[in-house]
Amino acid sequence: MALYRPLPFVQHILAKQLHPQALVIDATVGNGHDMCTIANLLSRSGKLFGFDIQKQAIDNTTDNLKKLNPQCAIKLFAQSHATMLPTLTQYIGKIDCVIFNLGYLPHGQQTRTTMIDTTYTALLQALMLLKQKGLLIMVTYPGHENGLIEHQCLTQLFAQADPSSYFITTYQQVNNVARPPHVFLLEKRYTSC
Ligand SMILES: C[S@@+](CC[C@H](N)C(=O)[O-])C[C@H]1O[C@@H](n2cnc3c(N)ncnc32)[C@H](O)[C@@H]1O
Repeated sequence: MALYRPLPFVQHILAKQLHPQALVIDATVGNGHDMCTIANLLSRSGKLFGFDIQKQAIDNTTDNLKKLNPQCAIKLFAQSHATMLPTLTQYIGKIDCVIFNLGYLPHGQQTRTTMIDTTYTALLQALMLLKQKGLLIMVTYPGHENGLIEHQCLTQLFAQADPSSYFITTYQQVNNVARPPHVFLLEKRYTSC
């Protein structure tokens, strides 16, 4: 038996939860690994939107998606995820899944990392875009300084969220001093945010 490590666990959840017609937002496309996993799960009627502030990330993701030749519609935005609501207003209450994989581009500039203020703004927008029963996945990286700040703020925020509006759970390795990535899963329940 082998338990899932955090990032394979996210892929497992995506494969379990997404249906082929799903509407999905990747809030941090990075090198496009999550985008490729999701694109593989969607059919022609599925839609995938991606945001990243770095042109390098958008270019890498475009190249990786080209190799995959996905069926679903894909739109990439070279802009902050804090603009997802005004960019996708026609999808308010219709999105099946939003994923945030926080931090910085692997092998890229560590200064171009996600920051709690914009992450928080984007999280509120994502909750408005999500449909009832929609899923939000948030991967935090408490092993580096900025990631720890984000992780602690989000832990507090999620712990205080109204349980009648959101069911929130986590997946983490507890016996690792290096503080590996931590996965939050949020299901939007009946009331809107
Ligand atoms: C850990 S990487 C994401 C990994 C990616 N999901 C993958 O599968 O390769 C984090 C990404 O977040 C991006 N980022 C940082 N701040 C952002 C913001 N405000 N809006 C959107 N993306 C942002 C960084 O440029 C970086 O590419």
